[in-house]
Amino acid sequence: ASLRALVAALPKVELHVHLVGSARPGTVAALARRHPGSGVPTDPAELARWFTFRDFDHFLTVYWAVQSLLRDRADIHELVVGLAADLARQNCRYAEVTVTPYNHLLDGMPGDELLSGLASGRAEAAAEHGVELAWCFDIPGEKGTKAGRETLVFALRERPEGLVSFGLGGPEVGVGRAQFAPFFTAAREAGLRSVPHAGETTGPATVWSAVHDLGADRVGHGIGSATDPRLLEYLRERDIALEVCPTSNVRTRQVASIGAHPVRRLLDHGVPVTLNTDDPPMFGATLDGEYLAVASALGLTPAEIADLARASVRASFLPEPRRTALL
Ligand code: ADE
Ligand code: ZN
Repeated sequence: ASLRALVAALPKVELHVHLVGSARPGTVAALARRHPGSGVPTDPAELARWFTFRDFDHFLTVYWAVQSLLRDRADIHELVVGLAADLARQNCRYAEVTVTPYNHLLDGMPGDELLSGLASGRAEAAAEHGVELAWCFDIPGEKGTKAGRETLVFALRERPEGLVSFGLGGPEVGVGRAQFAPFFTAAREAGLRSVPHAGETTGPATVWSAVHDLGADRVGHGIGSATDPRLLEYLRERDIALEVCPTSNVRTRQVASIGAHPVRRLLDHGVPVTLNTDDPPMFGATLDGEYLAVASALGLTPAEIADLARASVRASFLPEPRRTALL
């Protein structure tokens, strides 16, 4: 109980959470009722069962079904504010949230509806919940270089307030990171930070590509690095943080249990590790829960838990002096 209280009281930041994946079950159920025929359950209990994933690809299929329920600025606004409320309750006052504009545009949502929902949600998050939100616009990798180009154009043309980074999500298998190099180069030249997913479902070669070809400032997941000591040393030396999402990895069956998670090995090698939720309600995850799970599995002391929370602040793209003030 005291560990729980300690984690709850700790100021935390969240660096890897997908907006679509942050939808509360009640919100998803309400959206599903509003849009019949989507195949998404309209009952929260049934939804919980529906959020049981056989593997990573099954998870993505379910994720895309939820994404297709989002139609307009009000839907986006509701998601953003719901996420901020959930974060505020966990003493998390800053989060970098991944949005995939290309997918919403493909699903028929006009770009200005998306941007308007993000902007109004972000304003309410700050005013009503005291939570500062930053955006990562990411490429849905499975849709190839066309998606890469259009995501880049959208990001640089619109440049919404709070946009700090450029990402790459979706499946890794069969979706080489290097093909997206030109878009990451352009995004970085425009001042956005590089945060591709890599080493979530594949090994160290993908993470090497993320750092070499995409200039990763941080790596989404990156747990596939654990088997490559040279890569671990590289990440430590360059201070490239991994956005580790332990419960996500268990729920998509990349890792058998929290106890078997490579996070211990990453920490032992001095790699900057941040703890994050990825798609919290879909995985039954909370930010506090990730800290608790890792702290119990690894037997961390209160000081070590506080160090983990500080590692996230250090790896964040909060502008100075706010970043240092949180440390
Ligand atoms: N989209 C939503 N969650 C994701 C994840 N964990 N990996 C890749 N793409 C995603
Ligand atoms: Zn992710």
